[in-house]
Amino acid sequence: MYSDWAALYHVEQNLSSLVVYVVDFDGQGPNSVPGQEPLVGPLIQGLARTQVASGTPTLGWGPLSGSDFDYDPIAVRQAVYDWKAWAAIIIMPNATSQLYSAVQNGNTSYDPMGACQLIYQSARDDTNWFDFMYPIISQFQTQATSMVGQQWAKMVLQNATTDQTLLRNLANVPQAISPAIGFSEYDLRPFYPYTAIPATTIGLIYLIILSFFSFAFYLPIWFRFLNPKEHPPLRFVEFIAVRWGGTVLAYLFLSLAYSFVSLAFQINFAGGNPITSETQVTDIAYGNPDAYGHGTFPVYWMLNFVAMCALGLACENVAMVVGQPWTGLWLIFVSA
Ligand SMILES: *[C@@H]1O[C@H](CO)[C@@H](O)[C@H](O)[C@H]1NC(C)=O
Ligand SMILES: *[C@@H]1O[C@H](CO)[C@@H](O)[C@H](O)[C@H]1NC(C)=O
Ligand SMILES: *[C@@H]1O[C@H](CO)[C@@H](O)[C@H](O)[C@H]1NC(C)=O
Repeated sequence: MYSDWAALYHVEQNLSSLVVYVVDFDGQGPNSVPGQEPLVGPLIQGLARTQVASGTPTLGWGPLSGSDFDYDPIAVRQAVYDWKAWAAIIIMPNATSQLYSAVQNGNTSYDPMGACQLIYQSARDDTNWFDFMYPIISQFQTQATSMVGQQWAKMVLQNATTDQTLLRNLANVPQAISPAIGFSEYDLRPFYPYTAIPATTIGLIYLIILSFFSFAFYLPIWFRFLNPKEHPPLRFVEFIAVRWGGTVLAYLFLSLAYSFVSLAFQINFAGGNPITSETQVTDIAYGNPDAYGHGTFPVYWMLNFVAMCALGLACENVAMVVGQPWTGLWLIFVSA
C-alpha cells in the first residue's frame, strides 16, 4: 500500500522510461513513391525531438528510421507486441506522396487516417496506458496534425493562387487540406473485458485479506492437535508440518473458489478468439484472447494459489513465532 505512494511519487521523472517509437517510413523504402521531398515524417519526428529536448516531463519518444525495421510497418507492431516499446507512432511510406497525389489528381478517395498509425497494447498495463501515456500521446497527435496541416496548407495554397486546376481539385478533396493527416489507432491487445479490472486490482487485495486472516480462522483447529485426547501428542515438527500442509491445502481450494469468480463473470478462459498472429489487432467482439488455450484457467488458478501461498505461509510463520495478539502488527508490513 505505501509502495503505491512511493511508486507514483516520481512518475514525472520516470515518464521518459516509457519508450514510444516514432518511426518514419515516409518516402523511404521499396514501397514508397519517389518524387516529392517527404514532409509528414520529418515534421512529426521533429516534434518528437523537440519534446525530448524541451526538458519538461514527457514520454521517452524514440525517433527511428524505417530502415531499422526493414521498411516493414508490421515489424513495428511486432516490436510493440514484444514489449520493446510501449507504443509506436508510424508515419506510413505513402504519407506525403498520397497528399501530393490527392491534391494534384483531385483523388476523392484520399483518407487522412491512412497517413499515420498509433500502435499500442493497453492490456500490458491499463493504468499506465490510460493514466500516464495516452493523454500525452493524444496531445502529441493533435499537435502533429495541426503542425503538418499548417505547413501543408501553406504549400498548397501558395500554388493554388496561380493554379486553377489545383483549386478545383481542392474542392473535391477538402480532407487533403483539413485535417490533411490523421492517426489510425490499433490496440493489439485491448484490456478487455472490463471485469479484468477487479481481477487485477481489487481482487488481489481480496486475496491478501483471505491469506492474512486465514491463520486466525484455523488457529482453534491447530490447537486441537496439541490437545491429546484421541491421539498421542504431536511432536513439534509434526505440528509445523500439519499447519503448513493444512494451510496450503486450504489455499488450493480458496484460490479455486476465488478464480471461479472471474470465470463466472465471463472472462474468457477457453479460446474462441480467432487471433492468428501476434501483430493482429484483437477483435473484442470475440472476447479477450487467451494465452494458453484450455489450459488458461488452470494457469490462472495456480497463479492465484501461488500468490496466496507466498503471503499466507509468511503470515503463518510470523503467527507461529510471535503469536497472538501481536500478529496483527504484521499486517502493517504486509500492506507496505
Ligand atoms: C487515389 O487514392 C487511393 C487511396 O489513397 C489510391 O489507392 C489510388 O491509387 C489513388 N488514385 C490516383 C489516381 O492517384
Ligand atoms: C498508404 O498505404 C496503406 C497500405 O497500402 C493504406 O492503408 C493507406 O490508406 C495509404 N495511405 C494513404 C494516405 O492513402
Ligand atoms: C507547387 O508547385 C511547384 C511547381 O510547379 C511544384 O513543384 C510543387 O510540387 C507544388 N506543390 C504542391 C504542394 O502542390
